[in-house]
Amino acid sequence: MSRKFWVFDTTLRDGEQVPGAKLNLYEKLEVAKQLKKLQVDMIEAGFPSSSTGDFNAVKEIARKVGNSDDLIITALARAVKSDIEAVYNSVKYAENPLIHIVLGASDIHAEKKFGKSKSQLLDIGVDAVKFAKTLLPEVQYSTEDASRADFEYLWQTIEAVVKAGATIINVPDTVGFAEPEEFGGLIYKINDRLKNLNDNVLLSVHCHNDLGMATANTLAAIKNGADKVECTINGIGERAGNASLEEVVMAVHTRAEIYQAYTNVNTMEIMNTSRMVSEFMGLDVQVNKAITGENAFAHSSGIHQDGLIKSRDTYEIINPIDIGLDDMELVLTARSGRHAVKTAFKQLGMNQFTNTEFEEIFTDFLELADAKKEVYNHDLYVIIENYYKKKNKDNENMNHFSSNFYELVDLQVISNAKFPSANVELKKAGQTLTGSAVGSGPIDALYSAIMDGCELDIKLIQYDIRSISKGKEALGKVKIQVEYKGETYIAKASDTDILKASADAYINAINSIVIDHLLPVS
Ligand code: KIV
Ligand code: ZN
Repeated sequence: MSRKFWVFDTTLRDGEQVPGAKLNLYEKLEVAKQLKKLQVDMIEAGFPSSSTGDFNAVKEIARKVGNSDDLIITALARAVKSDIEAVYNSVKYAENPLIHIVLGASDIHAEKKFGKSKSQLLDIGVDAVKFAKTLLPEVQYSTEDASRADFEYLWQTIEAVVKAGATIINVPDTVGFAEPEEFGGLIYKINDRLKNLNDNVLLSVHCHNDLGMATANTLAAIKNGADKVECTINGIGERAGNASLEEVVMAVHTRAEIYQAYTNVNTMEIMNTSRMVSEFMGLDVQVNKAITGENAFAHSSGIHQDGLIKSRDTYEIINPIDIGLDDMELVLTARSGRHAVKTAFKQLGMNQFTNTEFEEIFTDFLELADAKKEVYNHDLYVIIENYYKKKNKDNENMNHFSSNFYELVDLQVISNAKFPSANVELKKAGQTLTGSAVGSGPIDALYSAIMDGCELDIKLIQYDIRSISKGKEALGKVKIQVEYKGETYIAKASDTDILKASADAYINAINSIVIDHLLPVS
């Protein structure tokens, strides 16, 4: 008989740990809304004790997205009181909040990470669960690095935290070390004992992709009794990433006779979610990635094309329509009215704007359409991304630190073979700052001129530019990595003018530095 398993999405927590993928509050909310449309069962919205920004984002998601009967909102805590309180105080606004606690379970973690004995760790874990239970009834306990742990100690931990009240036990393959047959065997053994101990506790898995086996390990776990799987959109996450949600869901959907299981996921929303996450986080999807890669449904060989024309099932195991792939893309221009623009956003899953928000977005659309002539889906994501960046900045500007942020007013870059040079005008605290420099190339000159204007010593580590979208005047997206006082900052920006995009990315990086290093201590 087919059984349902739960899908827990951690794109906004494990996925957001990817360097440079950090989202602001509005972007996080938009992704969470889209995950709700995708009908995942649980959203891990962040790691609230890591920063005030993350705390506020989790709180807003709990409030605005977690107002639903069939969606659980959670966030991560280490096994310490202050982390657990931060999770509680941010997720408590959801209809179904859950506290997620993580603590190492392997010898390596006990000895090398914590410098504690395993029995000490076990006590810390039990106390953490008992404390969390005083705040909320639903508590998930993750036995970090479980796939490298001693089995009998792992089980002892699980038994103790279940007796302390944990309602979900999560078994992570934290370092992507597991192999499918072995991991399936581990889950089988745990499931067997857990169901005897307490039949109501859910058994969950969380697999990383260091050996390219995260999806295979997750599927092996489903076959062997896992009730819940943790994954991310496009498989993003720490290092090589996590099990990809779309791969796990579509494997089970396509081979239901093998897995005898199903999910509640609305597969038609897969493409929209994948594109939104990729665009907002600035993480490209590998072109040949299963399910969501650009080539996943492209057939190039003549023999294959011939077969497809005769019958699609000769070479296609998934109907692209089932994942919401629709090759009918609306091309918008400055003459497209509000209705067409609204429809195009709706097709991409973004239709929850207030009238005021839409009017502001429509103004941005007209501005881009004037510059670019033709506006494609990729551009619409950029409009929204920039809109949320602006809104976030306005929010920051309302606090008393606003005067410390830099703003680009104007730039002039001269490119030639001998002395590329640049002049910039910046604004800070109502004051105009100017900078000028020559450089080894136009970007070097531009960045040196900005440094001259703001008098900061910043080192550019990496500069990437790519064209996004289509059309003669495609948008250029710039992503940079800079270093300041030994710390790395990643920032991005896009514009039809690539020099402006380059300058904006640099200013965004500088403002992140300002937040970390240069704000007055209050
Ligand atoms: O990889 C891991 O072990 C984790 C835990 C927090 C579940 O991300
Ligand atoms: Zn993880």
